Formats: sequence, C-alpha cells, structure tokens
Amino acid sequence: MVRRDEPADPVATALRDVARDDAAELAAVHVAAWQAAYRGLMPDRFLNGITVERWEERWAARLAGESLPPVRVAVRAGAIVGFCTVSTPSRDVDVGDGVAELVALNVAPGAWRSGVGTALMTDALARFRRDGWRVATLWVVEGNARAQAFYRRHGFVGDGAAMTHAPSGATELRMRRSLAAVGE
Ligand SMILES: CC(C)(COP(=O)(O)OP(=O)(O)OC[C@H]1O[C@@H](n2cnc3c(N)ncnc32)[C@H](O)[C@@H]1OP(=O)(O)O)[C@@H](O)C(=O)NCCC(=O)NCCS
Repeated sequence: MVRRDEPADPVATALRDVARDDAAELAAVHVAAWQAAYRGLMPDRFLNGITVERWEERWAARLAGESLPPVRVAVRAGAIVGFCTVSTPSRDVDVGDGVAELVALNVAPGAWRSGVGTALMTDALARFRRDGWRVATLWVVEGNARAQAFYRRHGFVGDGAAMTHAPSGATELRMRRSLAAVGE
C-alpha cells in the first residue's frame, strides 16, 4: 500500500511521443550519453565539439517540421531521461522488406542500468510488431560493450555488416533480431 505521505515511485518511467518543445532536454540527454559512452571510442576532438547548444539547434530544427519525427521519450519525475528514434522501413537498402530500424537509443548516464533503456526498447519492439514489421536492426559502435551487452540481452545478434560513422570515423556494426521470436 502506498501511504499518502510517501512520494510516488521515484523510478517510475513514463513513455510518450516527442513534443515540439523537447529540444533542450533531448539535446542534454543526447550529448551527455554520447560523451559518456563514446570516450575512447571516438576522437576527443569530435566528442568535445558536440555541445548541448549545437545539438539543441539540431533537435529544434527536427521538431519544427510539419510532422514530428518518430521519437519516443522516457520521462522520470517530469524530466526526459532517455529517447528512442526509429525508422520504418530501415534506412538500409540491403536488408530487404519488412525490416524496421532502431536508429538511436540514448539514456542519460545518471539513469543507466535502471531500466529506462529496456522500457524504450520494449516499447519500440511492441510497436514494430503491431505495425507488422518482421525484423528489427540497429547499428552499434564497435567497442561499445555496454550497448552491445544491452542489445544482446534484447535478442539482437551481429549480422556481419559494418560501416564507418562518417562524423567521428568510428566503425559501426549492424545487429538484428526477428520480431516473431518469443521474449525480448
Ligand atoms: C545502452 C543503453 C541504452 C542501455 O540503457 P539502460 O537504461 O542503461 O539499460 P537497462 O537499465 O534497461 O539495462 C537492461 C539490461 O541491459 C544490460 N546492460 C545495461 N548496461 C550494461 C552494462 N554496463 N554492462 C553489461 N550489461 C548491461 C543488462 O543486461 C541490463 O540488465 P540488468 O541490469 O538487469 O543486468 C544506455 O547505456 C545508453 O544510453 N548508453 C549510451 C548511448 C548508447 O551507447 N546507445 C546505444 C547506441 S547504439
């Protein structure tokens, strides 16, 4: 029983579609996640150059379009703590039909390992299934062991494809999973 003088569950995570005025909060999460996750995997010059101000401008431009981009955000205690962007179909031309892509999944470092990524992933996979997609893919930076472990836990395996992330020079590896399989 929750008593009236007790705060609501402090880690309750709500998911919603992105809103027009989310740019500042999204940029803060995005830059913090990249600078924490990619130190040592991408050049310092690149990482130090990605500022919240610049990425807020990029987000604001994306959120100013006629229709909002396919982004879901995770909110805790009124603040955005993570987001997930998808592409349906996948942006890749070599994957065939019925393939959806998780384009970006980022959680604020202070909230890592507390279930936010899983909430966003579960939501994305459920929506892909609901919309009839057969397979989900994503690209992960080589050496990003944290993310690779997370994705393996969610049923993704490497499919052998690799490419260079042009802005940073990092190698990205593709992972995929069936959306028909039981469990995630
Ligand atoms: C990868 C990321 C999205 C995971 O999100 P998260 O909210 O920390 O993940 P969760 O708390 O839901 O973790 C779920 C499971 O993933 C695995 N996992 C998460 N972090 C892990 C780590 N550091 N090492 C090993 N496994 C890990 C675990 O199996 C974990 O379950 P457990 O805690 O019960 O053992 C998050 O760390 C992140 O935003 N990283 C920076 C950006 C990034 O690399 N994004 C991926 C781009 S491709």
